[in-house]
Amino acid sequence: MYSLPDLIQPIPRRENISFGKLTTLGVGGQCKILFEPINEEQVCSLVKTFRREGWSYRILGGGSNLVVLSDIEEPVIRLNFPKVLKVESREITAPANYGHIRLSQDAAKQGLSGMEYAAGIPGTTGGALHMNAGAYGRELVQILSRYRYIHPEGEVIETVPQPSNFGYRWSHLGPGYVALGFTVRLTPGDSETIQAEVEANRQKRGSSQPLSKRNAGCIFKNPPGQSAGRLIDQAGLKGYRVGDAEVSPEHANFLINHGQATAREFYELMIQVQSKVQSRYGITLEPEVEVWGNVI
Ligand code: EPU
Repeated sequence: MYSLPDLIQPIPRRENISFGKLTTLGVGGQCKILFEPINEEQVCSLVKTFRREGWSYRILGGGSNLVVLSDIEEPVIRLNFPKVLKVESREITAPANYGHIRLSQDAAKQGLSGMEYAAGIPGTTGGALHMNAGAYGRELVQILSRYRYIHPEGEVIETVPQPSNFGYRWSHLGPGYVALGFTVRLTPGDSETIQAEVEANRQKRGSSQPLSKRNAGCIFKNPPGQSAGRLIDQAGLKGYRVGDAEVSPEHANFLINHGQATAREFYELMIQVQSKVQSRYGITLEPEVEVWGNVI
């Protein structure tokens, strides 16, 4: 375990927490040390300290797009800022630990349209920024007005989005960057109509995706012009199982944990799906989820 410098001693932290509790998928080992800073200053102290000590670190959001394969020794940061929104005319500013689905519902209640697509995308707004989350042909960068983050050198930066900094399920906020929050610019509309669309999108996702089982969302990115789910389905893999990990019979790009799946089983299933799609179609499926650690 680390000997913690004085500067970061007062920052809330917990030790040896199972990733079963920190992720929606529920596989993986232990998070050896989890820091839960309550404000930006604390995050800056952590980032600067880790940099000075030469320690790498990881950022955890809602844990809904994450597959953990082993214990994680590096310090993990999960923001615990007050979950307060700022609404100014057509703009809403949210801290990075605000729930993404909740933000889409809150925007609808305010009579602001533009976030309906996000009604079925779990996780935090910080996670959504980190990967430019999207659904139904829409993605965060289309409504993003400005965003705030900590650079790996510890500097707080607030900026407006540049097209080259965001792509399909990708942003420039790579390892070491900490998303702090963002502002979306929306369009005024009728609150009831917007809320109805939010609810419809939430239900649409629930009816086509296996949300009653533990999952990490779509496991692979859609290859250009293709659907990963359709490819895995057409390769006959729905229901294919390694131990307690299974290719969902409902949506083939979801790999589900029936309850007791181990990291090794899950990893094995991912590799087998990739290799079967590769040998059948010559297409390499790239993980859409983040993968932490290695199976031993
Ligand atoms: N399909 C199949 N079999 C399957 C699953 C899908 O044939 O088992 C077919 C569908 O019939 C459809 C096509 O594949 O014709 C696309 O399927 P779907 O509409 O479910 O969309 P997707 O491309 O698989 C994407 C996002 C989802 C998002 C949905 C809804 C990615 C990798 N996935 O899925 O996002 O919820 O669109 O917009 O971009 C996620 O990010 O975790 C995620 C699940």
